[in-house]
Amino acid sequence: MSYLLEVKNITVRYGDFLALDGVVLHLENNEVRIILGPNGAGKTTLLDAIAGSVSVSSGKIIYKGKDITSLSVNQRARLGILKKFQTPNVLDYLTVLENLVISSLEAKDLKALIINKKGITNKKQDRIYEILHRIGLKDKKDQQARNLSHGERQWLELGIILASGGELVLLDEPAIGLSTLEMFKLIGIIEEISKQSAVIIVDHNMDFVRELCIRLDSKVTFMHMGRVIKSDTFENIKKDTNIKKIYLGEVV
Ligand SMILES: Nc1ncnc2c1ncn2[C@@H]1O[C@H](COP(=O)(O)OP(=O)(O)OP(=O)(O)O)[C@@H](O)[C@H]1O
Ligand SMILES: [Mg+2]
Repeated sequence: MSYLLEVKNITVRYGDFLALDGVVLHLENNEVRIILGPNGAGKTTLLDAIAGSVSVSSGKIIYKGKDITSLSVNQRARLGILKKFQTPNVLDYLTVLENLVISSLEAKDLKALIINKKGITNKKQDRIYEILHRIGLKDKKDQQARNLSHGERQWLELGIILASGGELVLLDEPAIGLSTLEMFKLIGIIEEISKQSAVIIVDHNMDFVRELCIRLDSKVTFMHMGRVIKSDTFENIKKDTNIKKIYLGEVV
């Protein structure tokens, strides 16, 4: 079996503190994986280690068969590893539409635009309008991103992820502050992202996690104190007595 991502026994230290302790994780193409665990379990650190914003002190990260352990965040982003940040990473002085167009450009499109003065293809334009519709910002397409509300910026950043077509998307607590309706909108977007990318999602919201597992057949990896305790279906994780003890019965 060849995996999109292999996290091989990684350790991350913050000074003397061991934040990740021999973490192993395998992810297939287009797989949606949920990471659960109590506060301080190391979930965000794991996403950061995969994205390249924290360094690992031992172990390896293999992506598409290539060792990326020593690559920077930008180098990993160019290989298609994208992390959605809590503060949305959008270009404030560009419009919603321009943000999406820029994100969808590849090197060959830039050359067409700058050297041959050609616009983007009709296919790409159609895709961008599809994304605008999906993120619910069609009516705001000509507004500068800086004039969007916090919530709208979050949707735009998900649109940017869709437009840029990465192959591994990392989402840290994307459902925070969302209403039930918005949560379902987010699940629809994640479903769409998963058609082009694998997705790793950290979240505490059990309604959201349950729904994702049902809709996208996701597996759950449970972490505690920097270690992976178990990777299994949501139902089996829920039933696990050791996990119940760790994770406060009423939450799972
Ligand atoms: N920059 C840092 N310096 C020192 N310690 C850190 C740093 N970042 C995280 N930690 C510690 O590492 C541990 C793991 O943190 P991490 O943020 O990965 O946990 P988490 O599972 O994402 O928790 P939460 O559910 O609260 O977001 C915690 O004990 C945290 O205090
Ligand atoms: Mg966290």
